[in-house]
Amino acid sequence: MIYEITGGRRLRGECRVQGSKNSALPILACSLLCRGETVIRNCPVLSDVEATFAILRHLGCRVSREGHTVTVDSASVTADDIPDTLMREMRSSVIFLGAILARNGRASLSTPGGCEIGLRPIDLHLDAMRRLGAQVREEFGRIVCEAPGGLRGAKIPLSFPSVGATENIMIAASLAQGETTVTNAAREPEISDLADFLNGCGAKIAGAGEGTVVIEGVERLSPAGHTVIPDRIAAATYLAAAAVTGGEITLTGIIPAHLGPEIGVFEEAGCRVEADCRRIRINAPSRLRPVKMIRTMPYPGFPTDFQAPAAAMLTGAAGVSVIIETIFENRFKYVGELTRFGAKLRVDGRMAVIDGVERLYGANVVSPDLRGGAALLVAGLAAEGVTRVYDSRHIERGYESPERVLSGLSAEIRRVEEDGTER
Ligand code: UD1
Repeated sequence: MIYEITGGRRLRGECRVQGSKNSALPILACSLLCRGETVIRNCPVLSDVEATFAILRHLGCRVSREGHTVTVDSASVTADDIPDTLMREMRSSVIFLGAILARNGRASLSTPGGCEIGLRPIDLHLDAMRRLGAQVREEFGRIVCEAPGGLRGAKIPLSFPSVGATENIMIAASLAQGETTVTNAAREPEISDLADFLNGCGAKIAGAGEGTVVIEGVERLSPAGHTVIPDRIAAATYLAAAAVTGGEITLTGIIPAHLGPEIGVFEEAGCRVEADCRRIRINAPSRLRPVKMIRTMPYPGFPTDFQAPAAAMLTGAAGVSVIIETIFENRFKYVGELTRFGAKLRVDGRMAVIDGVERLYGANVVSPDLRGGAALLVAGLAAEGVTRVYDSRHIERGYESPERVLSGLSAEIRRVEEDGTER
């Protein structure tokens, strides 16, 4: 499918932001431990979420969805593996490792390999499972973790605050014997959301969202209800879309505190941003100012997931902006596509230099990955004329009906077949 955009329209209006993909995925995986019916609200409708449902069903769970409310019944779990096909569908399925291991005493996953944005090794996850007492071996492209006698608490210093590894440890250690301490833990809001969910199920986790997380293992977790936090990256992307069109929009249902560094960048670019407890209003000038330096960092730094949409936003700024990507090694694949709009950017290793141009022109472009695809939507909204963004499936992994959201904000955008027909 294609997103077809007629650009140049100023975005205005109000919209509610979807639930967080990166919160929903580990929480869904974690429902495996609850041995009953878990109800997850504000769960976004995304292909990555569907891929997670497929894994849960393969493992023996019953999953149903009504709108944004998902029910997972994990009373009977019949498998401890994730087949290669399901693993390939979504790299972040490694987030099931801790949950399957804690539930079954054994987990078998294929190695995730590289992905669109980089190598994505899982050494930190495996090292942590070893420290928790699991035996880990690799055989024929599969990783097998076993802990027949159960896991036991440990001290786990992370060499890098990996989001996925921190989540896997919290999940696995919740049912381990004794206390686990993770140092240099990731501090992303999604970590705190997972801890809130787990604690609601009876886990004992303290310090989530800080550098040191302490998990006191409990004997069992019981099913509970949970509402997923709003998606800060989707929110930032829609704010960038408003900013690049000189627009004025209000986003509701969000937590502005989760968007600290992004708001700083919008302000440096000349936007007026007003935030109160659950909403953000942005008012952009007709031309943005450049942003001297953006450096992606673990939370509370500038998020790597917003790097590409931010770059697209700055292609029209009045001057030179610089972005340094420190988290993933292959996150500039969208740059070549942006130049098709007439944007001037060059990449040197981990640095992108953006020389803002006065006008972008509609182009036919191909979405290289999830956030790179979102960047192309942002550029297309600003560009004069018609833009077609091919390979919509990448974008649909993380953005729920962006064509509906953006149309609601006065953009002219449709999701169509390659031959231009709507489905
Ligand atoms: C999560 C997010 C993703 C986001 C990323 C960084 C989900 C589903 N995905 O991904 O959207 O871009 O956080 O904010 O929540 N690393 C290792 N060894 C490991 C694990 C990670 O070297 O065992 C490296 C990675 O290659 C990468 C860096 O650490 O360079 C960050 O990865 P990590 O924080 O683990 O990201 P994910 O959890 O995969």
